[in-house]
Amino acid sequence: MSLAIISPGRDPQPWIDAIRKQNDQLEIEVFPNIQYPEKVEVALLWQHPKGILADFPNLKMISSMGAGVDHILSDDSIPEDLPIVRIVDEKLTWSMTNYVVMGVLNFHRQVTRYQQLKEDRNWDMSDPEIPVTIGVMGVGALGFDVLEKLDFMGFPVVGFGFSEKDDFPFPYFPKEKLDEFLKEVNVLVCLLPLTADTENILNKSLFEKVNPGTYLINVARGRHLVEEDLVDAISKGQLSGAMLDVYRKEPLPEDHPFWQNEGIFMTPHIASVTNPEAASPQVVENIRRLESNEPLMNLVNRSRGY
Ligand code: OXD
Repeated sequence: MSLAIISPGRDPQPWIDAIRKQNDQLEIEVFPNIQYPEKVEVALLWQHPKGILADFPNLKMISSMGAGVDHILSDDSIPEDLPIVRIVDEKLTWSMTNYVVMGVLNFHRQVTRYQQLKEDRNWDMSDPEIPVTIGVMGVGALGFDVLEKLDFMGFPVVGFGFSEKDDFPFPYFPKEKLDEFLKEVNVLVCLLPLTADTENILNKSLFEKVNPGTYLINVARGRHLVEEDLVDAISKGQLSGAMLDVYRKEPLPEDHPFWQNEGIFMTPHIASVTNPEAASPQVVENIRRLESNEPLMNLVNRSRGY
């Protein structure tokens, strides 16, 4: 059996080193130089070329290199019954929450405003804090941690998601109550998985319903957001601005309007980058479980899409 790493655009070497530390017997092959495709039973993927998995007739499990699996599920050629697992890692969650907390605090404590006041040598002590209620869209491992930490810091928080939840420890709105959810909040954090239901959810019609001046933080996927609708909503004051880490096209093209939009704070998909050292133990453990026929960790529900 061998593991194939297929991650064009992401350096495989740190993964090879980290996986070898866990299991030095495992054969590892790296795309595009895979010599024995028939020996490949596990594929570790990040943005693989669609259709490529048909080259591996004995594939038994796919692992994402990250928390998201939209890059895998968008490949229609993957057989329905092939198990897909993803990374759920405390460090990934920790970094994501820190990033979101930074965005919330920057808005709440008005970092941009005070930068401008400094440039203008203006000593203005009025309205030092914007009161915030934070709405988190997507309450899985990442979204839940954001809710918990912000709640611990004393901020009012509410969650929104596509499934019903019993006994959820925070106020929670299921999908039919999106409008009510939006009425509650003035910071909107998107941590939804990308599925057919959630693609383009951050669009003109949603921005028309938010409280005026709502601040948007999108750390999920670029395809959640209709980018021209965001620019429009900021120019109309429906949104006061946005902090974005993900884009429809990455890297963001040089002529993209976001680069010069003063209302948008941007980072290049670094909010929470999977650390091979931290994530490899679960990849190796899942290979062990696969071989001994034990239930896999962090198994993706294909019909839900995450
Ligand atoms: C992930 C990502 O899904 O890096 O882990 O976006």
